[in-house]
Amino acid sequence: MSTGLRERAAAELVRTRQRSVGLTDAVDDDDLVRQHSRLMSPLVWDLAHVGNQEELWLVRDVGGREPVRADIDQLYDAFKHPRGDRPQLPLLSPAQARAYVRTVREKVLDLLDTVELEGRPLVEQGFAFGMIIQHEQQHDETMLATHQLRTGDPVLVAEPPPPSRAIVAGEALIPGGPFEMGTSLEPWALDNERPAHAVDVPPFFIDRAPVTNAMYQAFIDAGGYDDPRWWSPQGWAHRQEAGLTGPGHWHGDGTYTRFGRREPIVGDEPVVHVDWHEASAYAAWAGRRLPTEAEWEKAARFDPATGRSRRYPWGDDDPTPEHANLGQRHLSPAPVGAYPAGASPAGVHQLIGDVWEWTSSPFGGYPGFRAFPYREYSEVFFAEGDHYRVLRGGSFGTDAAACRGTFRNWDYPIRRQIFSGFRCARDPRPGELAD
Ligand code: AVJ
Ligand code: FE
Repeated sequence: MSTGLRERAAAELVRTRQRSVGLTDAVDDDDLVRQHSRLMSPLVWDLAHVGNQEELWLVRDVGGREPVRADIDQLYDAFKHPRGDRPQLPLLSPAQARAYVRTVREKVLDLLDTVELEGRPLVEQGFAFGMIIQHEQQHDETMLATHQLRTGDPVLVAEPPPPSRAIVAGEALIPGGPFEMGTSLEPWALDNERPAHAVDVPPFFIDRAPVTNAMYQAFIDAGGYDDPRWWSPQGWAHRQEAGLTGPGHWHGDGTYTRFGRREPIVGDEPVVHVDWHEASAYAAWAGRRLPTEAEWEKAARFDPATGRSRRYPWGDDDPTPEHANLGQRHLSPAPVGAYPAGASPAGVHQLIGDVWEWTSSPFGGYPGFRAFPYREYSEVFFAEGDHYRVLRGGSFGTDAAACRGTFRNWDYPIRRQIFSGFRCARDPRPGELAD
């Protein structure tokens, strides 16, 4: 591993830890150990779990060093205890958790300078470090979602998102034909993004922007939540049982609560906190459908001029604040048109950042999938196949390190505690493409 890679890994580890510290220092100890929702861990669990994964993979496996705290592994194993049970465990206290993650990190920065890193797949191009950086960033987004569910005075601050700078309306035609989906070369891509493979996608239309609050309000106003025609049987059952009447955190009076602040709903921002059934019902009402995962990725990566798949809609360069609303720089999605520099060649905007976008596709492995380096990152979730749906593109709470055109997220179709939104797609009408 070159000096440049070592420096990059160290810098990303430090930058990521600043975010974790910010999210946990923002609240008092009571708040850190409390359960804000059965769907979420106490924040102090996330913090120590991040340190424990770092210890397992970097201190013990890559570094070959002695365990720091072998006795706590099972407390922080996500498969041993469901989130709802975690507050009852004998967890490290906030002070102990902070000390633990600091100790682990000191060892990692030390071994990053010295350890032999050649010739093992786990460390090739710094993969293990990239995996742990992304893991911490993923938990930072989870902690941000916990913050959204917590009650009490607001504690997080950020700049408002940029204003709209372009008129973005209607849909884009993505031409039919094969494109390369997934990646084999992106060094820090996770196992479920691999390998690159050709997928033949027939022509389709996709919205140039995510569905906005105003568009979604029109669905509510049209009685969409009271009309089973738009809902699948499972979606309708859940809508009834959970008593859903609108997106999460909406109050039904034109306001919503974001991170403890009650504010008027901004019409031209992408809707967020909708589940897969709500997104699908909206699409059915609008005479459209959700894109498949392959359609979403083709819209985000395919360059018709070269036939190549790009890393991002705008090209191969890493995201900057001009491209996309990522990294918790803002505490909300940005209005449609806020990121003209992030558009795809076909003129599709805000595919990356703002809100995770539901696709119609269940979560599964690509042809040739190989679990790496552990089955519990992705493969065990394939087993439940049809239960999970794929989301793409990242949200305002996703860090650039854990977001790319190939990145795949997944959740149950009834979940909306994540920063989930969507855009619609449709098939061409008969004769529409004839010239
Ligand atoms: C990819 C966001 C579904 O949070 O369950 C964190 C990421 N995996 N620790 C999750 C993850 C292990 C994962 N998601
Ligand atoms: Fe984890």
